[in-house]
Amino acid sequence: MIRMTTIEDVRIIELPKYADPRGNLSFAEQLKHIPFEIKRTYWIYDVPGGENRGGHAFLRNDEFIIALSGAFDVTVDDGIHKKIFSLNRSYYGLFVPAGLWREMDNFSTNSLALEFGSIHYDENDYVRDYSEYQKMKQDGTI
Ligand code: TYD
Repeated sequence: MIRMTTIEDVRIIELPKYADPRGNLSFAEQLKHIPFEIKRTYWIYDVPGGENRGGHAFLRNDEFIIALSGAFDVTVDDGIHKKIFSLNRSYYGLFVPAGLWREMDNFSTNSLALEFGSIHYDENDYVRDYSEYQKMKQDGTI
């Protein structure tokens, strides 16, 4: 039997950081720091105060989320338990494997969320209805 993804599978991953008086530098490589092959990257910016984004689950897409600038919260939910991760540094990221409900909110002014995905954009990979997600989790179809 395939084990279902839970919030225990979500984790903060520290990235290399070269502290330098000229300005710090961090980086990430696929399969080394980011635990999947990167097929896609996108970023969320100019978020008006009080807005939230990304209320959905992915069937197959694993994600890695970095607060490149500013701060925001990522709430992950496996249908039973919820956990909130506050991201506010550019030298670590949050690994969110497929199969979890996740939402982003509390964006600070001028925050910039950089996301890497393991598959190309595919609207069919989204579950956008929370009660459908819960049902799928109970059925074991996500
Ligand atoms: P979406 O992931 O639905 O954002 P949110 O869940 O935060 O509301 O993305 C919004 C739209 O952007 C989506 O309907 C289509 C487009 N989009 C792409 O074309 N490619 C992508 O990689 C992403 C992430 C979104």
